[in-house]
Order: sequence, then structure tokens, then C-alpha cells
Amino acid sequence: KTNLPYPTKPVAQVGRMTVNAPVSFSYPDASSPCTAIKLGSRVPGGVGPEGDIVAYSAMCTHMGCPVTYDAATKIFKCPCHFSMFDAEKAGQMIAGQATENLPRIRLRYDEKTGTVSAVGIEGLIYGRQANVL
Ligand code: FES
Repeated sequence: KTNLPYPTKPVAQVGRMTVNAPVSFSYPDASSPCTAIKLGSRVPGGVGPEGDIVAYSAMCTHMGCPVTYDAATKIFKCPCHFSMFDAEKAGQMIAGQATENLPRIRLRYDEKTGTVSAVGIEGLIYGRQANVL
């Protein structure tokens, strides 16, 4: 866990997001790929007008392979050793070699501008001792 403050970084405009179309960004720095998803139904911790936008680290917590989002099941799947993480349930690990949930990117939605910004991380990004170095 880090005591350093997280940056605020705009990641998407709500009006341009479509359901189940992943939006790639990096956070808190260029070497940490992340994915934002508009799930299409309200979930705990979701932001935006429908409360359905979430974001996660795109690096599997097992050995750091890039996970891909499966729209049919709303699950992130790792191609390396088949770990799976639930996008609707805060990145919960549901199967595979990983033992940690997918780190969740904390988002904030600005109603006036329609901007969704990354403002923090819950969980440790793969391979790091602190998320903000
Ligand atoms: Fe993802 Fe091993 S790196 S399951």
C-alpha cells in the first residue's frame, strides 16, 4: 500500500462509451495498462449516469499477462493460465492460477462534462510493491 496520492486522469467520455466495448488506458503510469467497461447494468461501485462503468488493471494478478474482456460473460480472461475475473463483482477471482482479485481502478464521474476519470486503485498492480512509486 502506498501513501503517495494518486493522480486524477480522464479516461473516457460517457457519451462515447458503448455497452461492452472496452476502453484502454494506462494508470497510474504508462507501464500499467487498464481497461474501462460500460457493463450495461448497474453494479456496486459502478459510475456514470447508469452506474454501470467500471475499470480494472489489464494485467493478470498471477504472472502479469494481459487479460481480455469477454462481453458474453462479462468476465476478464487470462490467456496464459486461464484465470478469470468477474467484471461485475469488483474483479473477483473466480477461477484459475491467480490468488488475488483483479485490481480495481477507482473512477469518478463528472456530470457537467461527462468525463470519467481514474482517481485511485484498489489492490496491487502485478509485479509492484506500490502502485505509485
Ligand atoms: Fe494469468 Fe497466469 S498469468 S493465469
